Amino acid sequence: MTMHYIAVIGAGTMGSGIAQVCASAEHLLLLIDINQQALDKGLGTIRRHLDRQVAKGVLSQDQASVTLQRIRTSTRYADLDAVDLVIEAATENLALKRSILQQIDAHVRPDCLIASNTSSLSITELAAGISHPERFMGIHFFNPVPVMGLVELIPGLLTSEATAASARALVERLGKTAIFTGNRPGFMVNRILMPMINEAIFVLQENGDAQAIDTSMRLGCNQPIGPLALADLIGLDTVLAILDTLQSGFGDPKYRAAPLLRELVAAGLLGKKTGRGFHAYR
Ligand code: CAA
Repeated sequence: MTMHYIAVIGAGTMGSGIAQVCASAEHLLLLIDINQQALDKGLGTIRRHLDRQVAKGVLSQDQASVTLQRIRTSTRYADLDAVDLVIEAATENLALKRSILQQIDAHVRPDCLIASNTSSLSITELAAGISHPERFMGIHFFNPVPVMGLVELIPGLLTSEATAASARALVERLGKTAIFTGNRPGFMVNRILMPMINEAIFVLQENGDAQAIDTSMRLGCNQPIGPLALADLIGLDTVLAILDTLQSGFGDPKYRAAPLLRELVAAGLLGKKTGRGFHAYR
C-alpha cells in the first residue's frame, strides 16, 4: 500500500523526530497532540534541526521550507479520516496508548495502517483494542530519530504480511534499516540495552561518580556517550517504564530497576528533557 499521508500522534521527542524524517522523505504529515502548546514545541524542535542542517549545508533553505510546509498540526482525531498510516508516539504507558489507539481506530479509514512506536509493550496486547488488528504493528524508531539508522519492526500475532511489507517499504523510503523482531518485552535493542544502563545505575549507587562511569564506557567500549548520559537522552521515565515491562513480562528479577532510578523519576529528574538526570544540562 502507498503511504503518502502519514499522521504522528504525540509531538514530543520521538513524535517530532518521526514527523521530521517522514516530511523530509516527502510524505505529507499530520502531527497531532492534545494542545497547541505541545504542537508548537514539537514544530520548534523540527525547525531548529532543519535550520541546523541548512547551516551545515546539508539542506538548502528551500528544501527546509518545503519540508516544514508538508507538516500540518491538529488537536482533533477527526482529522485522521484522510491519512494512510498513523504512528502513535505517546508516553510509554499501556493505558494511555490503549486509549489513544481506540481514538485512532474510531476515526481512520478501514484500510488505514496503524503503528505504535512503543519501545517495549506487547504489540498483540495493544492490537486487542483495534477493530482490524491485522493492520496494526510496532514500528520502533530510535532517539534522535533523524540520526539513528535502525527501525525495529514488530508484527503482533494477528498482523498481516501485507501490513509488515508496507512498514518495511516505509522504513526503506525513510533511508533507515529495518530489523524484524519478535513480540517479546523490550523487543531486541531495549532487551539488551536496558540491563546495561540499569547495571551502570547500580554501579553509580556504589561509587557515586557518573562522569567516571560514562568515561569508562566511552573510552573502554567506544560508546558515543556512556550509559548514564544515554539514559538521560532517552528519558529516565522511559528507561524505568521499559525495565518494569521487562521485569513483569519475563517474570525475571534480573530486570529489577535500580532504586536510584526510581527515586530520580519520583523527583521529576527525567534527564535531558527536564534539565537534570544523572547529569545536569543547560
Ligand atoms: N536531531 C537531529 N540531529 C541531531 C540530533 C537531533 N536531536 N542530535 C544530534 N544530531 C546530529 C548533529 O547535527 C550532528 O550531525 P553532523 O555529524 O552531521 O554534524 C551529529 O548528530 C552529532 O551531534 P553532536 O556533534 O551535536 O553530538 P554528539 O557527537 O554527541 O552526537 C548523538 C549526538 C548522535 C546523539 C550521539 O551522542 C549518539 O549517538 N548517542 C547515542 C544515541 C543512542 O544510542 N540512541 C539510541 C537510544 S535507545 C532508543 O532510542 C530506544 C528506546 O526505545 C529507548
